[in-house]
Amino acid sequence: MSGKRLAVVGAGAVGGSVVELAREYGHTVTAFADSASAAVDADGIDVDSVLARKGSEGRVGSADPEAALDADYDVLVEATPTTLGDAEPGFSHVRGALERDRHVVLANKGPVAERYADLMALERESAGEVRFEATVGGAIPVLSTVEDLRPGHVTAARGVLNGTANFILSRMAAEGLGYEHVLAEAQDLGVAEADPAFDVEGTDAALKCVILANVLAEGAREYTLADADVEGIQNVPGSALELAAEDGQTIRLIGECTPDTVRVSPRLVPQNAALAVTGTRNIVQLETEHAGQLNISGRGAGGPETASAVLADVGRLD
Ligand code: HSE
Repeated sequence: MSGKRLAVVGAGAVGGSVVELAREYGHTVTAFADSASAAVDADGIDVDSVLARKGSEGRVGSADPEAALDADYDVLVEATPTTLGDAEPGFSHVRGALERDRHVVLANKGPVAERYADLMALERESAGEVRFEATVGGAIPVLSTVEDLRPGHVTAARGVLNGTANFILSRMAAEGLGYEHVLAEAQDLGVAEADPAFDVEGTDAALKCVILANVLAEGAREYTLADADVEGIQNVPGSALELAAEDGQTIRLIGECTPDTVRVSPRLVPQNAALAVTGTRNIVQLETEHAGQLNISGRGAGGPETASAVLADVGRLD
């Protein structure tokens, strides 16, 4: 695998970690942009020096993603926060790179979950390839496993797909701590979304299920968040976890997709079941046509963890 020149857009936990880890994987970051840096600029702080501290050398540092799109790079890494509906501004960044025939690796779930057909159409018109392993399950290789198995041979997927919600449920059950307290802990860990309502209301897990459903459907049908049946954990009381524990069970936020369904809801699972992962871990169970059930588990959230999935995708590009 040859080293690639990366343009990274988005300076949150994931984008920052991609910049920090890129060299270790043999790549260089030639452009780095983050619209949030506009505030830094306005205060008279040198954006370049801020970006340099993140380990990027000889690159274009800018508050303007458009400047990064025009820079010299092989792969655009889109790591701005996930947005719903038109998935902007992430979708425009992706379009800009594909129209320039560059590859795109996404950590941002919005364009893949909300505009999958548009994204695939752009890819067909471009010499660039689109990859998005980091959008589902953080560090764990869910989409590349589905790709290896061939989507048509995977009949269903289910699992724990949100680290923040899982951290909250497992801390509440193990320590008897209150919901608000544990949510604040998750935010301190840097695993929660910019808007943690995305995590606790089930939206983030649903977006990941929608992405999986789109991959499994292979273009036969397009799914968006509007197709998902979603219930979060915000109304799960500590007493429900205590009652479940009396019966050897616990509660997990389970996402599920089949050819007809995308659903996220809190469910009872036996405490010793594979699905009862703890902390920020994720697990995905793939039901396969020829090989039964495959379980893939590991760290589902966090900057370096998700960046490792981004860099694995970069390594899969020609
Ligand atoms: N906020 C997400 C989680 C990580 O807690 O799982 C990114 O998808």
